[in-house]
Amino acid sequence: MSNQSASSHPRRYAQINVGLLGLGVVGSGAYKVLTDNADAIAQKVGARVNVKRIAVRNLDKDRKVNVDRSLLTDDPYEVIDDPDISIVCELIGGVQPAKGYVMRALGLGKSVVSANKELIAKDGHDAMVEAAARGVDFLFEGSVGGGIPIIQAMKSSLAGNTIHEVKGIVNGTTNYILTRMTQEGAELADVLADAQAHGYAEADPTNDVEGFDAQFKIAILSSIAFTSRVQTTDVYTEGIMRIGAHDIAHAREMGYVIKLLAIGQRIGDDAVQVRVHPALVPVGHPLASTGGPYNAILVRGDAVGDVMFYGQGAGMMPTGSAVAGDILEVCRNMQHGATGRIACTCFEHKRALPVDTVVTRYYVRMYVTDRPGTLSAIAGVFGRHQVSIASVRASAQERAEAIWVTHQVQEANLRRALKELSGIPEVHSIENWLRVED
Ligand code: HSE
Repeated sequence: MSNQSASSHPRRYAQINVGLLGLGVVGSGAYKVLTDNADAIAQKVGARVNVKRIAVRNLDKDRKVNVDRSLLTDDPYEVIDDPDISIVCELIGGVQPAKGYVMRALGLGKSVVSANKELIAKDGHDAMVEAAARGVDFLFEGSVGGGIPIIQAMKSSLAGNTIHEVKGIVNGTTNYILTRMTQEGAELADVLADAQAHGYAEADPTNDVEGFDAQFKIAILSSIAFTSRVQTTDVYTEGIMRIGAHDIAHAREMGYVIKLLAIGQRIGDDAVQVRVHPALVPVGHPLASTGGPYNAILVRGDAVGDVMFYGQGAGMMPTGSAVAGDILEVCRNMQHGATGRIACTCFEHKRALPVDTVVTRYYVRMYVTDRPGTLSAIAGVFGRHQVSIASVRASAQERAEAIWVTHQVQEANLRRALKELSGIPEVHSIENWLRVED
């Protein structure tokens, strides 16, 4: 049957042309991976993967990679609309104009690879619907965890599981800051300023330190894990700005480190709970040893149990690796006429529960009056709100300080107790309270 092999391989390309939108950190990394490893990639794909055109904002800017200037254009439509380009990589960031470019490329029947977490978290669904309608791929491994292969792993290797939890450290900047605060006993503002001076933190670090970067990433991971779209507005989000050296020191004395965690949990059959906040993590926990700019993501499936993914969560070559991996995946699908194989996996509609319903343990640090009966008065308030105390440490150096750790309690009760405590004479101030994730 001479045409049998033709039908199982509808089209074999000798060369597949790729266009890049953006040649910043990620674009440069993707370009370098594709060119450094071009021969091996050609073997793996069965075609040369050729970067044909690259759209940049500024043609004269110094680049991190050597690129033939003739490839560059400052008109993104010269990339998107080029009929010889089959795969468009959106590596610009932000929702617009990136979304317009992505939708146009998909509309033209091209597959798209993106590393744009904000676009995917907020508006990825539109792109996935369009990709499915056109039978093309829309892949975004580089949007979460830099070089860590987590999205493809959940969509393919772990697809047989019901995933109960996805939890991790997905922001390198805050992890770097908290790690240095822990190692040096330093205050956040000092470490942040130093990190900015050395380029480890952005000039405007808001998205990182206020938790928005992690919010985008856990919205993406949870949507995939729980097969139900989690909106960014569903994610309770707190950043790290109120963590002091004092909290880190107390945590350490009790056997914990403080990490910015992103947590998504399946609750029953029809709900999810998704949150980003700093938390006390026991020093022996696998996430506790994830230091500096590294990311780690723990996935709990009903069949596989716990699986941990660990690696560099940002940077030119790690994220370039993820983008290049997606490009290869599209190329392989093209070679077999199989693009659009894995479309949007959100086929359910689960409710997102508010943070008040979280049940966990809590750390509360407060300044109190240094008089007999103070601790019992405070314990009485906790007790009236069903907050059971696991331990209390009190010290009276310059000021009397009390550190409470609770047993598991629903957050609504803890918040009610803290509200009442902030009005009683025994409590001068509630300095901080944090969740404890054992
Ligand atoms: N700003 C991110 C981080 C890297 O600090 O992890 C890009 O996702």
